[in-house]
Amino acid sequence: MKKANVMIDHDFEIGETDPRLFGAFIEHLGRCVYGGIFEPGHATADKDGFRTDVLELVKELAPTIMRYPGGNFVSGYNWEDGVGPVEDRPARLDLAWFTTEPNTFGTNEFIDWCRKADIEPMLAVNLGTRDGDAARNLVEYCNHPSGTALSDLRIKHGWKEPHNIKFWCLGNEVDGHWQMEHKTATEYGRIAHEAAKMMNWVDPTIELAACGSSGRNMPTYGRWEDEVLEHTFDDVGYISLHTYFNNYAEDTEAFLASPDIMDQFIEEVVAIADSVAARRRSNKRIMLSFDEWNVWYRTRRKRADRVKEGWPVAPAILEEIYNMEDALVFGGACISLLNHADRVKAACLAQLVNVIAPIMTETGGPAWRQTIFWPFAQMSRYGRGTVLKAKVQSETYATRYYDPRGAQDLYFAVPEVPYLKVSAVADHEGGLTLFLLNRDLKDGVEVTIDARNFGALKVQEAEELHDNDLKAINTKSDPLRVKPRPINDISVSGGKITVSLKAASWNVIKLAG
Ligand code: AHR
Repeated sequence: MKKANVMIDHDFEIGETDPRLFGAFIEHLGRCVYGGIFEPGHATADKDGFRTDVLELVKELAPTIMRYPGGNFVSGYNWEDGVGPVEDRPARLDLAWFTTEPNTFGTNEFIDWCRKADIEPMLAVNLGTRDGDAARNLVEYCNHPSGTALSDLRIKHGWKEPHNIKFWCLGNEVDGHWQMEHKTATEYGRIAHEAAKMMNWVDPTIELAACGSSGRNMPTYGRWEDEVLEHTFDDVGYISLHTYFNNYAEDTEAFLASPDIMDQFIEEVVAIADSVAARRRSNKRIMLSFDEWNVWYRTRRKRADRVKEGWPVAPAILEEIYNMEDALVFGGACISLLNHADRVKAACLAQLVNVIAPIMTETGGPAWRQTIFWPFAQMSRYGRGTVLKAKVQSETYATRYYDPRGAQDLYFAVPEVPYLKVSAVADHEGGLTLFLLNRDLKDGVEVTIDARNFGALKVQEAEELHDNDLKAINTKSDPLRVKPRPINDISVSGGKITVSLKAASWNVIKLAG
């Protein structure tokens, strides 16, 4: 058993977690909407066609904000196709995923679903095939009370009260060649500025996020953020970041280190945003919206393969099955987000149901939790409060992480990473939650935590996620094979906690003050 020390001082604060840090994402993609959250005719469907078995799991997962309707899908989406009488809505080819979009679910249904789930909606506008005009019209349709053609249209469609959607994304991954109407930073910066200007004029209470790079591995990364913010600095409150972790190289140590690249990514984007502010001598601080993050690599598909399938409706694509090691990497990413609570003010797990998701369903059948469900639910439940700087003394290791982009093979050197990755969140009742990832694949670790200025603490809950088989998964027939179990080897004396963590384990310890 190795040893590690963690020191936490109540006065050394990183920042308060914004409730929007615990968001997720629903795209018109595969079976995320159709057969996921929406399945009229399912045994558990309510009068609106929403699966209540899925709604219950969503409530347990506890996402706070939900991004919609894409993703790549949004860059070809006409929002008008998804409102009004369902029988009049057109079916369309979706060029993002090479499927047919029936449009029987749209913006108003999404808002109804969010209200039922008690989740704030986050809407993305199409800045691919469309521009500021469609975007400002959507804001008017959704948020203007009444008395104009578009707001009255919403009322005629059955939604008398405005939706009051606050958080809006200005397009999606416009830096990527796979995007419909992919743009250069100059082209996107201009259109995003003009769209934002009009959207803000329609409703000055909204908050906007400009598109950052669709990954740190993009060739334009860095220059993209700089130029986009040069155009949009005065219009937006946020810049977006996207990351998908992979284990293509079948190198689990490197895979487990990859969340530390997320730390670097965040810190680099903060530096770029602040340098744009510095050039303007501005005190404004652009916040980060990490609005797509997850593990995703097994079910990535080449466009050529998708085309062969002949435009299906809601096919079972991107249905990544998550195993134990994915849950560990996912937990590491939760820690990275929490530890940047001062600047990452929104984040969305991509996605919610079936499509690279924590919740799986069978169309016409049951719903169950994937391995990654657990760290997210714990982070959302216990991550509310003030994140503290944890000083971690642990053995470290060096590795190289493989992160290909298209035909390019990219390897990233990861700085020496500690085997133990930690986040500490103080609640407002004198309590403290510790999130601890032991990345050591062979050895357990005995951790001594000195929680200074906390007084006497007592364990309220202590759970570990661990399986001797790193490839273990949850399935329809064995839905709880991987689940949190109590940690037994833990003791607390005053503000000192000693706990033994298993090799390759994710651990959450909730202490009451
Ligand atoms: O989440 C799946 C896809 O990943 C999204 O549509 C896109 O934005 C990203 O490339």
